[in-house]
Amino acid sequence: MKRDFLAIRDITKDEIEGLLQRAIDLKAGAGADKRPLSGKSIGLFFEKPSTRTRVSFEAGVYQLGGQSIYLNPKEIQLGRGETIADTARVLARYLSGIVLRTYSHAAVEEFAVHSTVPVINGLSDRHHPCQALADLMTIVERKGKLEGVRLAYIGDGNNVANSLIEAAALTGMDIVIACPEGCDPDPDVLERARGKSSGEVLILRNPREAAGRADVLYTDVWVSMGQEQEAERKKAKFSGYQINSRLLECAKNDVVVLHCLPAHRGEEITDEIIDGPHSAVLDQAENRLHTEKALLEFLLR
Ligand code: CP
Ligand code: NVA
Repeated sequence: MKRDFLAIRDITKDEIEGLLQRAIDLKAGAGADKRPLSGKSIGLFFEKPSTRTRVSFEAGVYQLGGQSIYLNPKEIQLGRGETIADTARVLARYLSGIVLRTYSHAAVEEFAVHSTVPVINGLSDRHHPCQALADLMTIVERKGKLEGVRLAYIGDGNNVANSLIEAAALTGMDIVIACPEGCDPDPDVLERARGKSSGEVLILRNPREAAGRADVLYTDVWVSMGQEQEAERKKAKFSGYQINSRLLECAKNDVVVLHCLPAHRGEEITDEIIDGPHSAVLDQAENRLHTEKALLEFLLR
């Protein structure tokens, strides 16, 4: 039976540990001579811009011996009204898997229902699970473990935050989210995580309190793709939620700073911090490639 990866909840703790170990091995050069995707084509359908997700998947598919086919919604019939169901059923006759970046998570779910080949969520309004895999790998590299690591996410309770909450609950990290009222993560994600996690899942309003004792400080943009019309109203809520040198002082001395990128420098994070000695954002971006290769091997095996 085909497996999809629409959210972190779609895989088990054992599977995520296996994926992370495989990604670490791939990064170290294991299997460089193997071509597990030989003869296979992977579709990449993107409704929104992307640098990391698109290029890491394209390069990863190539390195695994496969072909990627980039699909722009304006250039396929979906953009002229062909249904998601028909598009999914037809593409599955050509492709071995498909990565989707959509505005609505419901669209990825609908696509997956009708696709007979694995569907990977390359970011929707609710989840960004491929990002969370790279985040976990980066934390393992820097901290040597996940269980018991305290991650403080400062900012909007968005797709990235939702996937981090699910990832923390699955792996036993403590996660503290500091966000303004009205910017909380998805309540369903929180409820499930609280029911499942061996660690803490906390929502606070005070960023300094959240950053206290943090091993990892994480942030993302305050205004996500698709929310541009609310930009000014949203940004007004986030004063005090910037990761800067004052906030960093609240965390542990060896805190690691993560950001999924792209960053709005000077808003959610300062240049000094994102370019500073605590930042691991470039390793984190690189790890998209290794974790996605491990994921493709796992789903298409
Ligand atoms: N972090 C991330 O998904 O980046 P892109 O939007 O560039 O793909
Ligand atoms: N929350 C951001 C993440 C970008 C990678 C967005 O959805 O735009």
